[in-house]
Amino acid sequence: MTSTGDEQPDVKQNPLDKRTGTLGLQKYTLEEVKIKDVALRLVAVHQMEMREAHLVLTGQRIWPAAKVLALYLVENPDILQSAGSVLELGAGPGLPGLVAAKLAPQPDRVVLTDNKDLVLDLLDKNIVKNFDNGDPMADKPRCCHLEWGKGVTDFRDQYGGFDVILASDVIYHRPDIPLLLQTARDLLNDKPSSVLLLSYNDRAKIFQQTVKETAQECGLEWTDIPFRELLPNFSQLVHPDEVRHLHLMVFMKGVS
Ligand SMILES: C[S@@+](CC[C@H](N)C(=O)[O-])C[C@H]1O[C@@H](n2cnc3c(N)ncnc32)[C@H](O)[C@@H]1O
Repeated sequence: MTSTGDEQPDVKQNPLDKRTGTLGLQKYTLEEVKIKDVALRLVAVHQMEMREAHLVLTGQRIWPAAKVLALYLVENPDILQSAGSVLELGAGPGLPGLVAAKLAPQPDRVVLTDNKDLVLDLLDKNIVKNFDNGDPMADKPRCCHLEWGKGVTDFRDQYGGFDVILASDVIYHRPDIPLLLQTARDLLNDKPSSVLLLSYNDRAKIFQQTVKETAQECGLEWTDIPFRELLPNFSQLVHPDEVRHLHLMVFMKGVS
């Protein structure tokens, strides 16, 4: 990642975000993130010291799982070229969703979601930085609030179902796993080609088992994607230590 150098860093220390009640260290810089041929300019907390890491609201950083999912999309652009609509859950700064919007035939059919206002502000900034060419009518992705398991029927009524759902590094709080997977299932279209692509860091061994058991309960079939062999370039993007416990999985609605 390189700084684009055309903007002053936006450094704000905000130990307690009043809107979300969560800890947040807003130490944003605008940097270029290049995933093979797809270059994005992303506002996020790109640099932090270890002692600050616990202050960074999780959605303000780009996590290694997001880079691996974005790289998988760039390596497999047919997934997006045949998709009518794309959703990202727990998007944070939005790397996979924005890469998808660059590759999709209709960027305005890409919807990036998160449940934190602070993160949605960041997503708004990143959509403008990468899709605003001065034309108010230009196609660009949308971002909106979505909390897993809440108001999902209303959300589907408003946005429709999705052919591709993306989720990176959203498996870290075990009680949220059923909410996340059921939300994805409820929003996935019924086409045989409709998929949820999930990348996550197995912070505790139990997560992998919980993801698979929960998927089965939700009526989702899954396959592990052997991304290490598929993506020979991934070590240039993320340090091998950062992806040691990483999983990339594809889920489809099972035949009922
Ligand atoms: C570890 S961050 C990952 C951000 C980004 N996907 C990435 O990989 O860089 C997890 C994200 O999920 C969001 N999140 C956590 N719980 C959520 C929930 N119940 N509903 C919606 N979003 C949630 C957080 O706000 C945060 O942006």
